[in-house]
Amino acid sequence: MRMYDLIEKKKQGGALTREEIAFFVRGTTDGSIPEYQLTAFLMAVCFRGMTAEETAILTDEMAHSGDVLDLSAFGTASVDKHSTGGVGDKTTLIVTPIAASLGCRVAKMSGRGLGYTGGTVDKLSAIPGYSLTMPHADFMRQVETVGAAVISQSGNLTPADKKLYSLRDVTATVDSLPLIASSIMSKKIAAGAHSIVLDVKVGSGAFMKTEADATALAKAMVEIGKACGRRMTAVLTDMDIPLGIAVGNALEVAEAVEILHGRGPADLREVSLTLASHMVSLCKNIPLTEAEELTKQALDSGAALKKFREWISAQGGDVSVIDNAAYPKASIVRPICAERDGFITKMDTAAIGEVSVVLGAGRAKAEDEIDLSAGIEILKKTGDAVKAGEPIAVLHTSDEERFADAALRYAAAIDIGETAPPKRDLIFGVIR
Ligand code: URA
Repeated sequence: MRMYDLIEKKKQGGALTREEIAFFVRGTTDGSIPEYQLTAFLMAVCFRGMTAEETAILTDEMAHSGDVLDLSAFGTASVDKHSTGGVGDKTTLIVTPIAASLGCRVAKMSGRGLGYTGGTVDKLSAIPGYSLTMPHADFMRQVETVGAAVISQSGNLTPADKKLYSLRDVTATVDSLPLIASSIMSKKIAAGAHSIVLDVKVGSGAFMKTEADATALAKAMVEIGKACGRRMTAVLTDMDIPLGIAVGNALEVAEAVEILHGRGPADLREVSLTLASHMVSLCKNIPLTEAEELTKQALDSGAALKKFREWISAQGGDVSVIDNAAYPKASIVRPICAERDGFITKMDTAAIGEVSVVLGAGRAKAEDEIDLSAGIEILKKTGDAVKAGEPIAVLHTSDEERFADAALRYAAAIDIGETAPPKRDLIFGVIR
């Protein structure tokens, strides 16, 4: 088989066979296909697309290009949740202990922040002592005894996706639905869970800006998961506005703990309960309404908070930091004020995510260190009335220059107008 012929076939709009896709993925992983041929093929896929069957095969082959986690010891109880990426999205810290407190097994490999979107691994790093790596046997034991373990993605999970994603990033071939869907789903399939809930974000802070694009991606991923034998649900949630109030690692852990205490912002509570209910419904195979009751009880009774402390402590995290809200604190904590009276009509959520990166909460380059204390507390959101001079956000950083740049950017990311905009839904839909 020759890669040249596969490129030509896709260029003409043909559908590849399993053998051809397996050849492409093998050659990607072992380096035998040169990068110029890989990228020519990726560009052909961008223009010609892939059938649902080709996309499912590509996912399966990429999922098996490296290590695959075997969670069969947990039967149908293993469940995972994946977000397509957003700003202020700390739901993993909330849904993991809710689901685990109800008998689900959450064995999770999470990623670092990517661009302006945050990552669970960075948030957990804000808890002193928390270990993001552990031997496989310990990981499995903790999932069995505690019900939850969250570590960082292993070095050899889906190496084919790793290589292709880095090439797509620099060849303008990221925005292809079959390539995005297979990239995300290959990692989820390799991570082994029997049930998977996808949180597909929609809006100015999301990868998918429109409901139509997000729906198409969600449907494709649900179909792939089912073809690979997994129970699947995708929930479309709003990311036109940051989720909750906190953006930045320590600030987000503190906010997640507030939700586990039965306090905290209503939008974050609602999205977390929705996702957790779908996880519990899939994994226990019970009606959604029953799962909704159970998850609400788990949160309101303190059972989820108890499970959170148990999970964090099992991974070496200092729970006294959680109990006393003794997270890393920034040396500069300063408000940004409204420039005029009116209503917030729009928040450019991707730009707000960039503000958190400028403050030090994310990385501009892969090798950058992050400042765990840096971030934003959002005091006013889209639809809120504001008065000139009133604080609309508080920026946290440890560097004066960063503050000055971030303050200008934050002001530019917010539109203030005469009338309140119509209220947007928080949950756009569910695809099963
Ligand atoms: N996230 C991924 O993991 N892959 C993509 O292609 C896009 C977003």
